[in-house]
Amino acid sequence: MNMLDLAEKREYEQFFFSEESLAGLVRVASDFRYPCLLCAPTLGVALESMGRRCRTLDIDVRFSGLGGFKFFDLNHPISFGEEYDLVLCDPPFGFDVQQVFEAVDILRGGATVVVSWYQSRLAQFLRVFSDVKPVGVTLTYRDKDIPFYDGYDVSKYGRVVVELYSSDPGRVSGLWG
Ligand SMILES: C[S@@+](CC[C@H](N)C(=O)[O-])C[C@H]1O[C@@H](n2cnc3c(N)ncnc32)[C@H](O)[C@@H]1O
Repeated sequence: MNMLDLAEKREYEQFFFSEESLAGLVRVASDFRYPCLLCAPTLGVALESMGRRCRTLDIDVRFSGLGGFKFFDLNHPISFGEEYDLVLCDPPFGFDVQQVFEAVDILRGGATVVVSWYQSRLAQFLRVFSDVKPVGVTLTYRDKDIPFYDGYDVSKYGRVVVELYSSDPGRVSGLWG
C-alpha cells in the first residue's frame, strides 16, 4: 500500500496536507541538502519517492517503511546527533507550544526553521518561537474543515486556519512560488 493512501489517525491529531500544500512544501524542502521533517510524514513520503534524502520523525510507526523514518515523541524529544539545514514541523494542533519548541530546538542546530501554527495561542507561539516570522502561506489539508479535536464544532468556531512561519520567511516564500 502506498503510504500516501493511509487513513489519518485522529488519535494523533493527524491531518495530511492537501496536494497543493504538499507540492509547495516539496519545493521548499527540495532546496535544502538534508531536511528534517518533524510531524510531516507525508512530506517524507513525497521526498523519498523523488529520491531525496530526508529525516522523517513522527510518532506514527506506519511510516517506518521510509528509509529516513525514526520514531519520535514530542513529549520526550531527543537528538540524533545529525546536522540538518532545515527543520520543518507541522505539529499536532492541540500540542503545547513550549513542548513543540523544545523538540524543534533540540533538532535545529544552525538549520532554517519552518513551522506551522494557527490563530489560537498565536501570541504565545510567537513569544516562544521568537526568531520566526510569517511566510504568508496558508496550509491546506485533505480535510477542508480541520476539526481541532473530536467534537470540535466547525459551524460554531469556524475553520482552523494554519499558516507557515519561518526563521527565513523570504527564502521560503520565494521557493513556495
Ligand atoms: C497535524 S498532523 C501533520 C501531518 C502532516 N500534515 C502530513 O501530511 O504529514 C500532526 C502529526 O504529528 C504526529 N504526532 C502526533 N502526536 C505526536 C507526538 N506526541 N510526537 C510526535 N509526533 C506526533 C501525528 O502522527 C501527525 O503526523
